[in-house]
Amino acid sequence: MWVYVKDLKKHIGKEVELRGWVWRSRSSGKIAFVNLRDGTGIVQVVVEASSVSPEVFKNTKMLRLESSLIVRGKVKEEPRAPGGIEIFASEVEPIQIPKDDFPIQKPDHSIDYLMEHRHLWIRSRRQVHILNIRDAVLKAIRKFYWERGFVQVDTPIFTGAIGEAAGNLFELDYFDYGKVYLAQTGQLYLEAACMALGKVYNLGPTFRAEKSKTRRHLIEFWMNEAEVAYYEHDDNLKLQEDLVSYIVKYVIENAGEHLKALGRDITKLEKVEAPFPRITYTEAVKFLQKKGYDIEWGKDFGGDEETEIAKQFEKPVFVTHYPRKAKAFYMQPDPDNPEVVLCDDLLAPEGYGEIIGASQRIHDYDLLLERLKEFNLPVEAYDWYLDLRKFGTVPHSGFGLGVERTIAWIAGLEHIREAIPFARTLYRVYP
Ligand code: 4AD
Ligand code: MG
Repeated sequence: MWVYVKDLKKHIGKEVELRGWVWRSRSSGKIAFVNLRDGTGIVQVVVEASSVSPEVFKNTKMLRLESSLIVRGKVKEEPRAPGGIEIFASEVEPIQIPKDDFPIQKPDHSIDYLMEHRHLWIRSRRQVHILNIRDAVLKAIRKFYWERGFVQVDTPIFTGAIGEAAGNLFELDYFDYGKVYLAQTGQLYLEAACMALGKVYNLGPTFRAEKSKTRRHLIEFWMNEAEVAYYEHDDNLKLQEDLVSYIVKYVIENAGEHLKALGRDITKLEKVEAPFPRITYTEAVKFLQKKGYDIEWGKDFGGDEETEIAKQFEKPVFVTHYPRKAKAFYMQPDPDNPEVVLCDDLLAPEGYGEIIGASQRIHDYDLLLERLKEFNLPVEAYDWYLDLRKFGTVPHSGFGLGVERTIAWIAGLEHIREAIPFARTLYRVYP
């Protein structure tokens, strides 16, 4: 019976078949040890010359790193073996034995070399742990919304209207239509959908031609966005802190062994429980000025400033009420001070920066039209978006969570490029 390494504990004493690749192998005279990996774990296979045919033993000795193979044998408990289990092979069937040395072998490959070989690098243990954590984050997101009765609405990638801001758009020619853009966000479409379905979310790739080469920026990244009709600023904050604490808890519970394998300090993550602290933009500026930062009221924060603000807290922190000129066109002004908007950025602890951008949206037709003009956006492309303000408009709010930033923070990664299977960065679209 074909089983996976992670399930071997259920088969102690039985004959099983394993299908995988050679992680490591060594042999001495009459005995060979092959560490087999199959994507779910690694197990040691013991091949004794006395218990297999001479041909099988010969094949086993020819195995090298990343040879693919099928092994049949008996599952035995062995406290000294990694994972507490060993396989005593009766059959070893090589599928393919590489002609060349596997390119990823040394502990000191440069990052460029590793990225160049990403298609092979993802087989390494660290990357397998990270990709499992990513999987847990994505599952947590879907489960959270599913439990709360949200409807998933998949928003388009080709878009005619600028969703967030001009300046970092990918433009393409779209048949006779002319120029379209790859989606920077699905928000505008979720705003339409929440008026149809109440509570909606999406989860998918977004694109930004960011010229900044930092450890927090990707060109193609995944975003989870949510939008809720009749939600105002405070409801929006509550939903965000519930989501983020849910994700962290889910990952600790369901991918804890992967976090541990990466050496992540889980006690730090365990502190991430709602409610999260909140400070206003204006308070944050005063704090930074006191710390000696050269920042004036009106400018958005850079990465260093975000880190400085977040350093004061053990949990993620909401920075709210940014100046309207520093943010996107669609944000609802604060009724108490129209120079600021009802928005928030959620900053992760430990220097991981902004993981969420959020706001209440302008629901008044005239004000939205005024803002589109003020931001020099082509009003004709927003006819449909303005329609939403003509037919039963209501206050509504939403946000976008950067999936890779969230993964990088939870997994404790130094750079966002490891948080996505095949990163697209400023100078890389290969492999
Ligand atoms: O703050 P942003 O630009 O917000 C929006 O796009 C809104 N339309 C979302 C909404 O309200 N529906 O982006 C949201 C998040 C950021 O907080 C950040 O985590 C992530 O997306 N993000 C990036 N992640 C990786 N690489 C980049 N270049 C990113 N740009 C934004
Ligand atoms: Mg933002």
